[in-house]
Amino acid sequence: MAPHYILGVSAFYHDSAACLLRDGEIVAAAQEERFTRKKGDASFPLQAARYCLQAAGGIAASDLAFVGFYDKPLLKFERILETYLGVAPRGFAQFRMAGPLWMKEKLFLDREIRRALGYDGELLYAEHHESHAASAFFPSPFEEAAILTVDGVGEWATAAYGVGRGNDFELLQELHWPDSLGLLYSAFTYFTGFKVNSGEYKVMGLAPYGEPKYVDVIYREIVHVREDGSFTLNQKYFEYLTGLTMTNGAFAELFGGPPRMPESKLTQREMDIAKSIQVVCEDIMLRMARTVHRETGMDNLCLAGGVALNCVANGRILREGPFKRLWIQPAAGDAGGALGVAQLPAGTRCRAPTSARSSRRRKLRHTSIRLAPRTSGSMGTACGSAWPSCWPRRRWWGGLTGAWSSGRGRSGRAAFWATRAARACRLR
Ligand SMILES: [Fe+2]
Repeated sequence: MAPHYILGVSAFYHDSAACLLRDGEIVAAAQEERFTRKKGDASFPLQAARYCLQAAGGIAASDLAFVGFYDKPLLKFERILETYLGVAPRGFAQFRMAGPLWMKEKLFLDREIRRALGYDGELLYAEHHESHAASAFFPSPFEEAAILTVDGVGEWATAAYGVGRGNDFELLQELHWPDSLGLLYSAFTYFTGFKVNSGEYKVMGLAPYGEPKYVDVIYREIVHVREDGSFTLNQKYFEYLTGLTMTNGAFAELFGGPPRMPESKLTQREMDIAKSIQVVCEDIMLRMARTVHRETGMDNLCLAGGVALNCVANGRILREGPFKRLWIQPAAGDAGGALGVAQLPAGTRCRAPTSARSSRRRKLRHTSIRLAPRTSGSMGTACGSAWPSCWPRRRWWGGLTGAWSSGRGRSGRAAFWATRAARACRLR
């Protein structure tokens, strides 16, 4: 039987990458930055894709059964449009920059992908956090595990958790834009003078040199954290919905002055800020992990999403969290989405072979996980403080602000194949 090849692609935001599977096994995976020497390169990963095809013995694009893309552009565009409409006329500068790119390129990914690869076959799209979740669970050594994905934002989701069993998984709950732990951390990355989506590890590395003197300010003014790890960001201090920066003047006032200029001297203030946001990030991740454990009853946890690159927080989850075992996707950022989306259609062949997993299970198991529907996260108190009365409870586009929501939870593979049906109707 001819080998079954699937190419996964992540592109156009940051950390573009390609990954090739042959009969469910990873043949090769690479980030485009390794070839172009541009850190975090967001362009279509053409060289990475060529490398993958070459690694499989020089196969052609026409040999691919599928090409998968790691998120759904139309859903993402919906979120961007709704945000612009929600904050208009503020945000026009941002829309003027992003709009043409969407019209010219991002909304017509079929055309772009086919042209770049010289590919004429089937294209599949997964939701962003489904790709992260697949990349976390399928390569893991666990037969069953809880899955937690946390990042800046995908289409609407900024975090998700669920359960994986055998060759399937289901995402049960999500947090939604604009309440995002990744964006919160990136805001402080920007404010301490580092590049967003790139210098977050520097903030984590700077933290041990500081004192957590701003933790109280962050909890009081910036983020309202609930016991279950869900949270609401006070948009009074952020600019990412409306402007071209992450934070605004009100944010600067809280921390005693303007953001640090990139490459300027680091002061004790930046070290204390870094320590403070690191403490908050770890606290939220631990709360999320405890919630996921309580809701799923699993002993194992798989992590992915950009925030899962925060190894200090991961260490605390391992040491202080409720899970017995932890597995973190090494490419937890968006590059790993190329692997995740490639694994989704591979179905029963997508699990990595391990000595612990029997071949019978690899061949036969296809569990469709159904857990009882969850209620949305409570709006109770957290961190000892009542819900701030001046903060909005609902976004203009509806929905409870910042709470876990099960509205989009569904089987990963079911959603994936539903995507194929949607494709037939020219939808994504
Ligand atoms: Fe992501």
